[in-house]
Amino acid sequence: MDRSRSHADYPGTVSEPLILGIETSCDETGVALVRGRELLADVTASSMDEHARYGGIVPEVASRAHLEAFVPTIDAALAAADVDLGDVDAIAVTAGPGLVGSLTVGVAGAKSLALATGRPLYGVNHVIGHAAVDELVHGAFPERFVALVVSGGHTSLLLVDDIATGVVELGQTLDDAAGEAFDKVGRLLGLPYPGGPHVDRLARTGDPSAIRFPRGLTAGKDKARHPYDFSFSGLKTAVARYVEAFADRGEEVPAADVAAGFSEAVADVLVTKALAACRTHGCDTLVIGGGFSANSRLRELAAERAQEQGVTVRIPPIRYCTDNGAMIAALGSALVRSGAAPSQLDLPTDSAMPLTLVQA
Ligand code: KG4
Ligand code: ZN
Repeated sequence: MDRSRSHADYPGTVSEPLILGIETSCDETGVALVRGRELLADVTASSMDEHARYGGIVPEVASRAHLEAFVPTIDAALAAADVDLGDVDAIAVTAGPGLVGSLTVGVAGAKSLALATGRPLYGVNHVIGHAAVDELVHGAFPERFVALVVSGGHTSLLLVDDIATGVVELGQTLDDAAGEAFDKVGRLLGLPYPGGPHVDRLARTGDPSAIRFPRGLTAGKDKARHPYDFSFSGLKTAVARYVEAFADRGEEVPAADVAAGFSEAVADVLVTKALAACRTHGCDTLVIGGGFSANSRLRELAAERAQEQGVTVRIPPIRYCTDNGAMIAALGSALVRSGAAPSQLDLPTDSAMPLTLVQA
């Protein structure tokens, strides 16, 4: 194949590029159009209803749903933005991390569009997209900031100098992601899948100080070795033991207090480590993204403690925190504005794409 094609079409540095963003890393087919830092349209088709009865995402079902939703979602986004495919300056697509089958549908579709239009293609990192989307809501990023990306699949703490080129991974979860831990605790408490929002709602009715659950990697040697890493598996096990003890005694589980104590432990660890990173690295801005940033206790605690520390917290509205096309278009726009060269048209998907790569 002609590996040089996308470079030949490279638009150079465009200050207000029109970007088509495509996201298919999990169960959402997201397509958006962004001009510079302005969001023109954002359309999402989700296959979550098809997975709910299995209690988790079924990759084959998700891939097929992307295949069916891809063209209609592109059409809907172009119509909503009132632009033609030919007007687009560049195409951005999630190259990873994510489910390999889901990613493949999006990347193959995006390659076809790039070939058909002759426009450059940028295969971008989904996790960094979760932070990048905030520029569409709250305006240009400051010179340096800390980003906390929390969802069902990721829990990462980033130091960002330039979202297109200068992202350093400070830490990540060593086991479960925060949302994943919520979904597992939801299952323990007999709540529907995905459990995160249900546990959150139940927690609002409980006493957060009634049960003190462990905060992983926050003390002693563990903290020294992993100042910005997270671990939620010990917490999840502690919750499971607590719930089982009640069941063994034939007593009713104090579900609201369990949910509240658990939510408090997760929010406490996330906020403590994110603000410590701000202090250490001299940042006065914390950007929080990913589907878990819907969590009400995380939002409250972050706002409260950040204010005490003189840090501004930026969290996009929920619809831009869950997986969507806008986050990918936003990151594509940042790359084009910074003059980054496009990806090659033989770019692979990378289900474990590292945070050291903004672009594939
Ligand atoms: O970003 P996202 O939509 O998909 C992934 O990339 O994972 O995040 C979804 C995750 C799920 O685990 C869901 O249960 C969790 O975020 N979640 C919540 C809340 N809303 C969504 N967890 C706790 N509290 C919430 N309010
Ligand atoms: Zn995500």
